[in-house]
Amino acid sequence: MFTLPPITLPGMDEYAEAHSTPDPAPLAAVSGNDLGLGHLISGQVVGGLLRMIIHTLRPKTVLDIGTFTGYSALSMAVALPEGARVISCEIDPERAEVARKHIAEAGYADVISVRVGPALDTIAGIEEPLDLVFIDADKPNYHTYYEATLPRLSPRGLIACDNTMWRGEIIDAESTDPDVRALRRFNDAVAADPRSESVMLTVRDGVTLIRRA
Ligand SMILES: C[S@@+](CC[C@H](N)C(=O)[O-])C[C@H]1O[C@@H](n2cnc3c(N)ncnc32)[C@H](O)[C@@H]1O
Repeated sequence: MFTLPPITLPGMDEYAEAHSTPDPAPLAAVSGNDLGLGHLISGQVVGGLLRMIIHTLRPKTVLDIGTFTGYSALSMAVALPEGARVISCEIDPERAEVARKHIAEAGYADVISVRVGPALDTIAGIEEPLDLVFIDADKPNYHTYYEATLPRLSPRGLIACDNTMWRGEIIDAESTDPDVRALRRFNDAVAADPRSESVMLTVRDGVTLIRRA
């Protein structure tokens, strides 16, 4: 499987994976390798972190922004309490179909609803409070997703954002990569936002956890 360059010491990601609980069985088929894009999935350690949050938070409604093959949606779904659900947003209909197939085969079609279209449209159509939001889609829209979901969080709700350190390039002042620039603006805005409290974790490619202050 393709692995991202580490943002910590070489070998640490592999060490963390080897010393974390392996992926639960339903995740075996959703590596992303069937689409030749295995590096797009959030991965075992981020998935494990999301499940730890879910075991503590006991969410009813989880929003997964960026379905791809269904890895993060399934990672979270397997830990959900009875009756809870994941709404997963995917703009690409073919990826959504692949994800739906994996999700059905894993037995979670009743728990995860894959919605095709721009995530912002899907978010606008959700009425209930959001207990957990995982942002992992187009990087230039991270700030838009944050603005759209922060006011919709339930009192103990959390937003988790993946890739916020972008292979370490986030601290490369010379980088002109549009994703890096967008993520830098997003990270700066979140850090300065008095409406929220946040912590950036050097987990894999960087994960930021945010709650309403
Ligand atoms: C990094 S992948 C998601 C990986 C997934 N969260 C996982 O851990 O396996 C990002 C996905 O977001 C989708 N995407 C991009 N822009 C989007 C948008 N505006 N609305 C919804 N999905 C979008 C892409 O097609 C892609 O499949």
